[in-house]
Parts: sequence; structure tokens; C-alpha cells
Amino acid sequence: MSKKRSILLGVTGSIAAYKAAELAREFSRQGVEVRVMMTPAATRFVSPLTFEALLTIPVITDIFNNSTVGPIPHVSLSADVDAILIAPASADAIARIAHGLADDIVSCTTLAFDGPVLIAPAMHHKMYLNVATQANIAILRERGVTVIGPESGELASGGHGAGRLSPVETIIGCTLKTLGKSGDLACRTVVVTAGGTQEPIDPVRCITNRSSGKMGYAIAEACRDRGASVVLISAPTALPPPPGIQIHGVRTAQEMFEATQAAVQHAEVLIMAAAVADYRPATPAHQKIKKGDESLTIELERTVDILGSLQGELLRVGFAAESSDLERNARAKLSAKGLDLIVANDITATDAGFNSESNRVTIIDRDGAVERLPLLPKREVADRVLDRVVQLLS
Ligand SMILES: Cc1cc2nc3c(=O)[nH]c(=O)nc-3n(C[C@H](O)[C@H](O)[C@H](O)COP(=O)(O)O)c2cc1C
Repeated sequence: MSKKRSILLGVTGSIAAYKAAELAREFSRQGVEVRVMMTPAATRFVSPLTFEALLTIPVITDIFNNSTVGPIPHVSLSADVDAILIAPASADAIARIAHGLADDIVSCTTLAFDGPVLIAPAMHHKMYLNVATQANIAILRERGVTVIGPESGELASGGHGAGRLSPVETIIGCTLKTLGKSGDLACRTVVVTAGGTQEPIDPVRCITNRSSGKMGYAIAEACRDRGASVVLISAPTALPPPPGIQIHGVRTAQEMFEATQAAVQHAEVLIMAAAVADYRPATPAHQKIKKGDESLTIELERTVDILGSLQGELLRVGFAAESSDLERNARAKLSAKGLDLIVANDITATDAGFNSESNRVTIIDRDGAVERLPLLPKREVADRVLDRVVQLLS
């Protein structure tokens, strides 16, 4: 994962061209380097300056006049990118690319590129359903181009039907998955749990914990970026759903158990980063509990032990959030549950653990080897944990 992932974004003359700016920005947020090329028609819809201001890089709009990338821009532009994404892709651009035309910077560069190409069509539904467009899209699919969408719905050009540009998060997710295809988790399915479960006391109150879900989400994103198919089973969090990841929302420990049990049937790895309640109210009230003068006692019962219950051919990674005797408690959990790896973090630290952007963890494997990591951003912790998962898988 050392090389920064990069894409070349081709913008063509569709009314949805303005959404390409949001796409470019989101790619940057995801740590992907973005270069932009635009057809002359696209520049009628949105100015190159928009992308230049967002990304602080020059935007290429002309095959012949681009001193910034050298004398042969259609070759140098894509020389070291991992993929070309054309979004939005107009009917005209799709036709040109399908037929090997090369009279603008987007089609010419795509013709000169032998890496993965993705297109996200956007047009009026009659243009999209026209047999010519359908045949052109079929040609591109057959040649290995990934076609994202379009979606059905209300169209900016009037009417209703198939032709809307897919949502930004769908396009980002598909592209990130494509970029991950050569990663060391390619063809693996990983189930990740995240967030803090909520156990109802009555219809409005619950027992929960301070887990933000950030560590689990970072692991899910790192798995995706290394090529895995990821199923994220998430207790409630305030985090946006990560693109390109199948997400199942759950609330209680029991729901998390059931969702995880179903998901691991098709998985090789389970990473339990969720903070699952150990106890729940034995008899949650059906009505809101009224305030009284007396104290209130709530009887708690044990919840299901998810990691302990899911055995078999699965590589299982647990997390131990401890406030004392970190390594001793983590080792005890590792052996009690027969885990392959445990990631222990000290939740009393103020710069790490729950709700923080960073974490300081100790990784202990099934043979007892201990790796103490320094304070790192959660995404880096995720990659270090996955390095160990990859080792154990091989
Ligand atoms: C207002 C307006 C909106 C348009 N919207 C689209 C569109 O959403 N999709 C599309 O394929 N063509 C659309 N077109 C037509 C294309 O801009 C036209 O076919 C152009 O040649 C595309 O050039 P390009 O593929 O080189 O970018 C639109 C044209 C206009 C004037």
C-alpha cells in the first residue's frame, strides 16, 4: 500500500458535469490522487477552473496545447495513473471510445491507455435507451470497461427514466474497488463489525458505550482498498457509510450476532472491532419507565459471546479495550476465544481509543508474538493489523 493510488478523471459534455467536481473532491478525501481532463463540450458546462481550484493542479482540455504535461498529453497524462474514470460519460463520448475515435483529449487518452477504464453514463433516457448507445455500451463492457449505472429517476433534461448519473458514493465505491483489485486481499471476503451496541431498557432508553465506530470503519475501508469484498456490520454510529462497502445496520448484540453469523458463511476473515455489550437488561420494559421517588434496579443478563460462538475455518481477529493490565487481559481473551490475532488498546489514554482519530495498540498473535505500535492514525493502525492478517492467511 506504499504507492499512492491515482486516477485520471475524464469529464464530458453532460448536464451532470458539475457533479464531477464533487467526485474529484471526494476522491481526494479518500486519499486518491486525481488528475482531470475535459472535453471541449464539458468546459461549456463547468469551468476547468473549478477543478483547478479544488485540486490545485492544471486541467487538460486540449490534445494539442498543453505545455503543463509535455508535448504528447494523451500519453503522458495517463502514464502513471491506476485507472481512468469517465464521469459523467456522454452518449457522444461513449460512442467515440467504443469506435476508437481519438479527436479530443478524453477519447484520445483512453485509446492510448491499457489499464482499467470505468465509465458512468449520464444522459436523457431516450439517448440512453437508443440502440446505438446500448450497442456502444455493450461493446465497452465486452472489452472489460466497467460501466457504473446509470440510475433511473427524474432527469435534469426533463422526464423520468434511466439515464441519471449514479450517486457520487456509488461511483467512488466502484472505482476504489477497481483500484484495490491488485491488493493483497483481492478475492477475499472480510466481515468487519464496528460501533457500540445498544441494549434497550425501555422504548426510549438503552445501555450503550462510547465506541465511535471509527476503528472498525477504518478497517473496513482498508480491507476494501486492498481488494477485499467487505461486509460491515455496524451498530449505530455518526459516521457516513463508506463507499464500496456492503453495510448492515444493527442495534443490539443479538442482532449483531445474527448478522455476523450469516455474513461469515461466505467469508475468510472476521474482524470484530465493535464494542459489544456484555450485559443487557433481562426484561426491557414495553412502556417508558416512569420516574418515581424510589431507586430503580435493572437486572442484567449476559449477551451472546459473538467471537466465542463463531468458530470454523474463519480467521478471527478480536479487539480488547482494556483499562488495566492491557497485555495480560488481551492474552487471556485471545486464548479463551481461540483467536488468531488480538488488537489491544488502552481505553484510559486520552489521545487514543474510543472516539479518537488515532490509536495506540498492541497486536498479539496466536503464537504469542507481540507487536507494540506507536500512536498512529486509525487508518494506519488498520493497515498494520491487515498486514498481519495477510501474513496469517498465507
Ligand atoms: C444543455 C445540454 C445538456 C446536455 N446534456 C447531455 C447529457 O446529459 N448527456 C449527454 O450524453 N449529452 C448531453 N448533451 C449533448 C452533448 O453535450 C453533446 O453530445 C456533446 O457533443 C458531447 O460532447 P463530448 O462527448 O465531447 O463531451 C447536452 C447538450 C446540451 C446543450
